[in-house]
Amino acid sequence: MSDDNNKQDLKPQGIKGYLLPAVVVAFSFAVIYTVVVAIPNLPSLKSKPSEYAIEYIEKDKDGSIKRDSKTGKPVPNQAGRGRAIYAREGCFYCHSQFVRPQDRDFGSRVRAGDYANETPNVLGTSRTGPDLSNEGGKLPDEWHIAHLKDPRFYTPGSIMPSFSFLSDEELKDLVAYLQTLGRKRFDDPANRHIYEAYFPEADEAFWKASEHHKPNVDSAAAANAGAGIYRQNCAVCHGLNGLGNGPNALAMAKKPANFSDPKYKKYSNETWYWRVAEGVPGTRMPRWKLKLEPQQMWYLVAFLKTLPQDEKPIIEPYQSIDSAAWQSQSALPAGIVSNYEKLSAGAAKSGTGGSTNAH
Ligand code: HEC
Ligand code: HEC
Repeated sequence: MSDDNNKQDLKPQGIKGYLLPAVVVAFSFAVIYTVVVAIPNLPSLKSKPSEYAIEYIEKDKDGSIKRDSKTGKPVPNQAGRGRAIYAREGCFYCHSQFVRPQDRDFGSRVRAGDYANETPNVLGTSRTGPDLSNEGGKLPDEWHIAHLKDPRFYTPGSIMPSFSFLSDEELKDLVAYLQTLGRKRFDDPANRHIYEAYFPEADEAFWKASEHHKPNVDSAAAANAGAGIYRQNCAVCHGLNGLGNGPNALAMAKKPANFSDPKYKKYSNETWYWRVAEGVPGTRMPRWKLKLEPQQMWYLVAFLKTLPQDEKPIIEPYQSIDSAAWQSQSALPAGIVSNYEKLSAGAAKSGTGGSTNAH
């Protein structure tokens, strides 16, 4: 190599030297822009709301979006406010909102566009709790509010935290949101068979039959009919007087409910019915709807409502399995009169009750 050649190499090359790198950088940006911004925004690729998509914003009668006068942002409707609480409280850390092909028990699948109206999404990635895609319409509002306040009262052993710190207003909004989930999927008759297979409680025929066969649950006759069904099916665990002290209870880790607890004063007819029909997950309380007819469960409701409730639960020793001893144990503690006996006594006087045929 000569000295001359070396000098030539060190000479500045002018703009030509930057051309190639500049082209490479510009090209890279173009590719990134195309992939990240342009293609996803192609009108033909934008996911359109599906027929099951729910709107969480307030709209005027003419269909135009209501906007906040100050910020110009769309105003959320009640379910929309609930959705914000759902995101704020991190419900999606534990609950997913997508049903995969291999899933069982979560109802019909979620399809593209079902959540097209929603930003940011709350699909969740973890299923510490059950998937909620099809939660809407599955359980009554009262159940949700009570469950949110005290999950372990409804599902013993649940690790879901209590949200009792939310205001009544917030709870209502949150439940309004939960009730929208999968609601349009649920209402579509084309999906009915899926729900009937996975959520028999969503089976309209079941509830209709239940309403159709609903006796007057405040009548002595219905309570009487229920008493018979109760003795046959429930007394072994719950005890003859519903004190949770049936002979079976002795050997059970999670004891049967003691219906003399004052909290049961607050139970509505529907709550009783739902509990009997659905059982208590994680305990040996069966789902009676698999065995009993709706009418029989309504009779049970009529009977359960008459069980005595005092200031505090009545605790009695476990009843014996010996049938003769059982009969003598059936009397209630001194001084406590069961409403059932009052009802039956009243009915005996007026001559209306007594029959098990309660229609
Ligand atoms: C730490 C995890 C966790 C968090 C956070 C959580 N959950 Fe749950 N959730 C669960 C578990 C576990 C269950 C199942 C047991 C039960 O029913 O309590 C459940 C059950 C439920 C159910 C009943 C589903 C059914 O059909 O039986 C609903 C509804 C629900 N959660 C809503 C919520 C809402 C709304 C929030 C936020 C305010 C929330 N969860 C936050 C864990 C969680
Ligand atoms: C194998 C025992 C067993 C039998 C039989 C049984 N139960 Fe239960 N029951 C339980 C257990 C256990 C619980 C759960 C108690 C708890 O959650 O603390 C329960 C809970 C209940 C509850 C819910 C109470 C609540 O706190 O909401 C109702 C209502 C009920 N049983 C009614 C009945 C009726 C009606 C029958 C008969 C048709 C019946 N049970 C038969 C064991 C039984």
